[in-house]
Amino acid sequence: MSVKIKNKQAIDKMRTAGLLLASIFEDVESLVKEGISTLSIDTWITEQLLKKGLISQSKGYHGYQHVSCISVNDVVVHGVPSNNVLLQKGDIVKVDVCAAWEGYCADMARCFIVGKKTDERTAHIIAVAQQALDLGIAQAVVGNRLFDISAAIQNCVEKQGYGIVRDFAGHGIGKKMHEEPDVPNFGDFGTGMRLKSGMTFAIEPMITQGSYEVQIDNDGWTARTKDASLAVHVEDTVLITDNGPEILTRPSK
Ligand code: MF3
Ligand code: CO
Repeated sequence: MSVKIKNKQAIDKMRTAGLLLASIFEDVESLVKEGISTLSIDTWITEQLLKKGLISQSKGYHGYQHVSCISVNDVVVHGVPSNNVLLQKGDIVKVDVCAAWEGYCADMARCFIVGKKTDERTAHIIAVAQQALDLGIAQAVVGNRLFDISAAIQNCVEKQGYGIVRDFAGHGIGKKMHEEPDVPNFGDFGTGMRLKSGMTFAIEPMITQGSYEVQIDNDGWTARTKDASLAVHVEDTVLITDNGPEILTRPSK
């Protein structure tokens, strides 16, 4: 396995990618409204990427035709933007975008609620996904092992009664959207390779209210829970530094 250590130039480009991508996400929430189609959100993101000089990494990826994945309710990841998916009040919407600045990528996903107000059960799974992401990121420190990230995520999620999707994982990221290694959302503390300064990972827990099993729709992309239970996915791109994790897709922090 060859895990790339990024040099200063690569890191600066990834920082810019993260900064610009996060700036687009600041405005996504106001778009996620009752009655809007997921395709029109994707179209808006296309315009924003162009404005910021970012290049989509999903468009053209194994034939994928959009700049975002927009996954509603029981769709975990890789929801294909469509004119036929119109958002309804109470929908849980995960927006996932990977884009590059001068050849270096940032990958980010956030979860939104249509109409904002929701029941306690839904608010809780969203909070747990965010908490799992933060706990995973907190393990991304020099000297730790790769699956410390995985174990922290799994621990947080399962302890609170949710399922961890096994069929998809986080990943190394850099010149390419997906680089080595895979960063699974389950695993054992104290195992996996040693983490070094200059490694960059996309960390992305995918969690479910019911069983963690997923199935792919006939479109070859849309991954939804087999039991139709609600799923949440959030993602950040993280740089390991000698001073701890730097979250490239949360640049203000
Ligand atoms: N951003 C996604 C990820 O986290 C990639 C999905 S893009 C697609 O890996 F092209 F695969 F749809
Ligand atoms: Co990713």
